[in-house]
Amino acid sequence: MPIIAPSILSADFLNLGRDIEMVNNSEADWFHLDVMDGRFVPNISYGMSIISQMKKAAKKTFDVHLMIVEPEKYITEFAKAGADILTVHLEASTHLHRNIQAIKAAGMKAGVALNPHTPVHMLDDILCDLDLVLIMSVNPGFGGQKFIDHSIQKIRQLRKMIEDRGIDTVIEVDGGVTLENAPILVKAGADALVAGNTVFSAPDPVEMIKKLKAVGK
Ligand code: DX5
Ligand code: ZN
Repeated sequence: MPIIAPSILSADFLNLGRDIEMVNNSEADWFHLDVMDGRFVPNISYGMSIISQMKKAAKKTFDVHLMIVEPEKYITEFAKAGADILTVHLEASTHLHRNIQAIKAAGMKAGVALNPHTPVHMLDDILCDLDLVLIMSVNPGFGGQKFIDHSIQKIRQLRKMIEDRGIDTVIEVDGGVTLENAPILVKAGADALVAGNTVFSAPDPVEMIKKLKAVGK
């Protein structure tokens, strides 16, 4: 069964405590937390102060997706705020290997995210150091966008790279995930599915999480 990570970007921020409780009481595995700086992506979301507040109420793994330039400046601060997994973008990291080691040294699992245009083979020389790879299936910056079909091919390629190396790196897919495409993504090799709009716009979010969790059963 896939790991399900509801994206809090699509939550109701006037009722954030209620939405956190909903995720706590659902079959979801992780909280997916999108940090945007208005520079790496054309949008600004929230940062470590909101994340550390959320940590007091949330009972599941914090999967933090940094869409920021110079992520190395904030690694220890996100560890302090409560991140369990910290993912940086390959495109935002000049010294990716150093950033990955710093994330691990700060006690977190380390992930790398790839924009839709970045080929998976760019990870050839770093894959063995990673706990997670995040395949962006939309251009990062906003929730509720349409899934880019080419991402499926990237998941398949990455699954093969992981198998060839005999490692257990998690493949996470983020952007435009729906109940319709989720089975295709799991079949292609995805381990974890992020879902923002699909979960939070559903009439019954708990039921939607349950349905996503049952994909590929
Ligand atoms: C997009 C973010 C996603 C976003 C996904 O830049 O990284 O995590 O919240 O939202 P949906 O599932 O609505 O595409
Ligand atoms: Zn994300």
